[in-house]
Amino acid sequence: MTAGSIEGMLQVQLINRLDALRGAVSGLKSRGSLALVPTMGALHAGHLQLVAAAKARADAVAVSIFVNPAQFGTGEDLDAYPRTLEADRAKLEDAGADLLWAPPVEEVYAPGFATTVSVAGVSEGLCGASRPGHFDGVALVVAKLFNQVQPTHVFFGEKDFQQLAVIRRMARDLDFPIEIIGVPTVRDEDGLALSSRNAYLSAGARANAAALPKALNAAAEALLNGADVGATLDRAKSDMLRAGFTSIDYLELRDGETLAPLSTWRRHARLFVAARIESTRLIDNIEVERK
Ligand code: PAJ
Repeated sequence: MTAGSIEGMLQVQLINRLDALRGAVSGLKSRGSLALVPTMGALHAGHLQLVAAAKARADAVAVSIFVNPAQFGTGEDLDAYPRTLEADRAKLEDAGADLLWAPPVEEVYAPGFATTVSVAGVSEGLCGASRPGHFDGVALVVAKLFNQVQPTHVFFGEKDFQQLAVIRRMARDLDFPIEIIGVPTVRDEDGLALSSRNAYLSAGARANAAALPKALNAAAEALLNGADVGATLDRAKSDMLRAGFTSIDYLELRDGETLAPLSTWRRHARLFVAARIESTRLIDNIEVERK
């Protein structure tokens, strides 16, 4: 066992009831700033990068693990979603998190729960179109997490870029006094963005999935060289389908700030993709910018 994990074990506090959370949070806030990293668990190096960024920025770090039923549609993977609390807790100890907020479903959604949170505009299109209601569920749980933990800073991954835009809009609209920080996507060696859902893939599909970041990078390069947007996106789609993807929910060029669709390249453009391989849906996005 490393010194870091011994030190960490003394530090991370697992809490699953709201009344206990309130006391723990006020204790942590007496140190100064408090960062929150919201997750659904099955933690990987992408999540841990958010924890590291949070530790670098704030005096104390809380991580939430909650597989939020409100953001899964019918037929999606709510029941199959990996739940690995003990392993997650050990990783958070090593990473030096201070508090792990892992409430059961009934602690978050009491009987008779009737409130919705819906963010128009940025939640439309892309994943909002292929997963109806998904961002309402995300906005709802994140608003609740903000009220429960009352962090000064919160960290989200750019891997879920539209989600980050939805949360920024919601925080501005609802006056949450929280600084929102986006963290660049952490990738495997072959370029595939780390995701808890990668664990669903067979070895063959996992190898073929590298075609997704490859197609995005090739499309970005072509666009920067002046290629036509429609033709470039068509080519990237056919490359992915040829490599073993079964379908593509969307592949689009959008403005990275407003998320408005673009038919020609301009600064701050971003490529967004969601595609299925075997029955697993993978998403990714990259900036299309001259380095
Ligand atoms: P989850 O998919 O567990 O992701 C938790 C956070 O980790 C998100 O901010 C996500 O963008 C970030 N993340 C995931 N993979 C990453 C990677 N490869 N590199 C960098 N960051 C990565 O996103 C959710 O959970 C939920 O929707 C949640 C916000 C917790 C609300 O339920």
